[in-house]
Amino acid sequence: MSDKGGFPHYMLKEIFEQPQGLRDTIEPRVSLDEAVVRLDEIRISADELRALRRINIVASGTSRHAGIAGQYMIQELANVAVDVDYASEFEYRNPLIGPGEITIVITQSGETADTSAAQREAKAKGSRTIAVSNVVDSTIAREADGVLYTHAGPEISIASTKAFTAQMAVLFLFGLYLGQVRGKLTRERRRQYIRELLDLPEKLTKTLESAPECKLLADEFYKVEDFLFLGRAVHYPVAMDGALKLKEVSYIHAEGYPTGESKHGPIAMLDDKLPVVIIATCDRDDPGSVLRYEKTVANIKGFKLQSARVIAIATEGDEQMPKLADHTIFIPEESELLSPILEIVPLQLFAYYMTVRKGLDVDRPRNLVKSVSVE
Ligand code: F6R
Repeated sequence: MSDKGGFPHYMLKEIFEQPQGLRDTIEPRVSLDEAVVRLDEIRISADELRALRRINIVASGTSRHAGIAGQYMIQELANVAVDVDYASEFEYRNPLIGPGEITIVITQSGETADTSAAQREAKAKGSRTIAVSNVVDSTIAREADGVLYTHAGPEISIASTKAFTAQMAVLFLFGLYLGQVRGKLTRERRRQYIRELLDLPEKLTKTLESAPECKLLADEFYKVEDFLFLGRAVHYPVAMDGALKLKEVSYIHAEGYPTGESKHGPIAMLDDKLPVVIIATCDRDDPGSVLRYEKTVANIKGFKLQSARVIAIATEGDEQMPKLADHTIFIPEESELLSPILEIVPLQLFAYYMTVRKGLDVDRPRNLVKSVSVE
């Protein structure tokens, strides 16, 4: 128990370390007074960033899910086109990349073979590379032009949790920095985002209070064999990661899907034996978010007509959701682009408690290793 800091498992300890990981990742890089982000570590000049034509993100597993969230964030904040690839597929699609582009390589360990191969492919084609890594001086960090370290602290449990939230925070910071350098964000807007970033650790602490509810959910659902996880827009990679977490530690089959896409096939399977976990949060100050929320509500009504049990992740103060969904887990209100960093927390806790309830080794799931050194 000693190095687990009083927690029964590393996974739970690391889930609870997320507020500190965010603090250490965000605070040294922002100034609220000046309304600026400083990312000197990327070692790419402001002129080059202003001339930037496109960004490619390559990564594997959970790191790729952070990359998809980053795609939504960077495009919105800096108005630059962003593509995301599976690292293991990158070379096969003959990526048409070259000078004037940046390839962001996201990897907790900094040693993943697929991701390293993709990085070399990008470099060979003339793209600059930036590594987002949690391990100082790792192979991928060393080979990159610049490095943006996540300061989540060592991650021991096989399932990635605290690295994921820190990766999303770094990608948001990068988007903000790019928007600042390229003159796409007013000082006021930047200040507002920086304030929200600085408030995130506290909100994540509050989100962790959902742990007892997630444990109760596990008691109810641990015998279920299949789950569908859904999310729309920037919340879709959260659904993907919630499903991945459940699969890898509890061995329960789960599919992550964009909510809208579920109508194009998966809902044929819906019935009382296939529960739906859905991200149904809402930033009430953002008309786009409200629209997305309304579409999600309509989708949930449809799922209920098919007798599916629905677990919703919703925003505090939402009075409608508990009437629609069978279970609602509330998280604090957050702006659209930052809310994925909170939404994943109950899904991590759910995967954790499901696995413990099944009596499995949550920190060391079978057939998996912490850093995948073969392609
Ligand atoms: C999931 C998980 C894996 C890793 C993937 C990439 O919880 O841990 O999917 O995210 O193997 O690893 P890194 O980020 O070290 O390149």
